[in-house]
Amino acid sequence: MKAVLIKNEYGLGNVTIEEQAIPSIRENEVLVKVNAISFNQLDLMIAKGAFGTKLPHILGSDAVGIVEQIGSDVLTLNVGDLVATHFIQSWQSGGLKPVDLKSRLGTAVQGVFSEYITLPESSLVKIPSNLTAEEASSLPIAGLTAWEAIVNAGQLKPGQTVLLQGTGGVSIFALQFAKTIGAKVIIISSSDEKLEKAKQLGADKTINYVTNPDWGKMVLELTGGKGVDLALEMSWAEIGKTIEAMKLGGRIAVVGLLGGASTNLSVFDIIQKCLSIVGVQVGSKTAFEDMNRAIEVNNMTPVIDRVFPLSELSEALTYFDEGKHFGKVVLTWVAVPTRHPQR
Ligand SMILES: NC(=O)c1ccc[n+]([C@@H]2O[C@H](COP(=O)([O-])OP(=O)(O)OC[C@H]3O[C@@H](n4cnc5c(N)ncnc54)[C@H](OP(=O)(O)O)[C@@H]3O)[C@@H](O)[C@H]2O)c1
Repeated sequence: MKAVLIKNEYGLGNVTIEEQAIPSIRENEVLVKVNAISFNQLDLMIAKGAFGTKLPHILGSDAVGIVEQIGSDVLTLNVGDLVATHFIQSWQSGGLKPVDLKSRLGTAVQGVFSEYITLPESSLVKIPSNLTAEEASSLPIAGLTAWEAIVNAGQLKPGQTVLLQGTGGVSIFALQFAKTIGAKVIIISSSDEKLEKAKQLGADKTINYVTNPDWGKMVLELTGGKGVDLALEMSWAEIGKTIEAMKLGGRIAVVGLLGGASTNLSVFDIIQKCLSIVGVQVGSKTAFEDMNRAIEVNNMTPVIDRVFPLSELSEALTYFDEGKHFGKVVLTWVAVPTRHPQR
């Protein structure tokens, strides 16, 4: 079988496809033939050596495929089920425990960008029945992180306003979930074209953060000076502008660090505005199943920017790394009928 790995040296140019033996299953495990995978910033960071991951390392956290074999102790899955990987494998429900961080697929343990994967049944989730494998491959990290940030950490309510930053996988899922809840969305992006697409998905107000570097003040103005109830922080470098945009008693769900891991942060406005700042780590399996039910009930479809075949792995990684996408970038293992733009 083929596996996508970073072998001897870090760097996107060193990501290769290698033949490996198909793994065998234990009693509690399931063999999945992978149809589609999706990329996350985490894959880029690992491939570039940001965490000093031990090599060789199979990349990837997000995969969807069909169950081909089940172990004798498997109770909840059957041959033929379409399943997605659950990123923080041991985080099944309740609060996150320190040990859970050691079970993250593609990070602490080998990843899932392989033609076949074997995982315990507890590390797999049936996909929503209204989605294709390609669409569902966007759920394990981006979808679930957005759900966690909007619903669990963010506690967004109907009629409230959320600020979203950028138009990548997490932000676009968050836009869709926020609109489903009945909340208002203000979204910022580097691209007017992407903001136009966000409007078509229901964004109420849009700001180009490149041509409007004072976007924090602008968000405040757009809310009549009150500020937003919730913000999903994606940059961290510009957290000061996010704080400027917040309502008294508002909540910032910290998701990303696209601007860097450290910043100059004055505590004054956090105290003055009584803000809550909460970190987000994707989500539990229970949250994943809750999200899937919401996707089914609302017949929601994830936004897939582009689908690449495995033969164009390197082009796909470069395209994703350049940040031209709106929503998610997916790669298919086998040629399947698709309803999304293909290379
Ligand atoms: N905490 C967690 O559990 C968790 C889970 C998933 C992701 N993340 C993190 O969340 C962030 C977003 O992930 P993603 O999967 O949505 O990434 P993505 O699909 O690559 O999208 C990133 C988008 O953010 C915008 N952007 C780029 N630099 C920015 C900056 N400095 N400030 C504000 N926006 C910027 C760009 O959109 P425009 O072109 O529209 O400007 C870019 O396309 C990443 O840092 C990722 O590592 C964290």
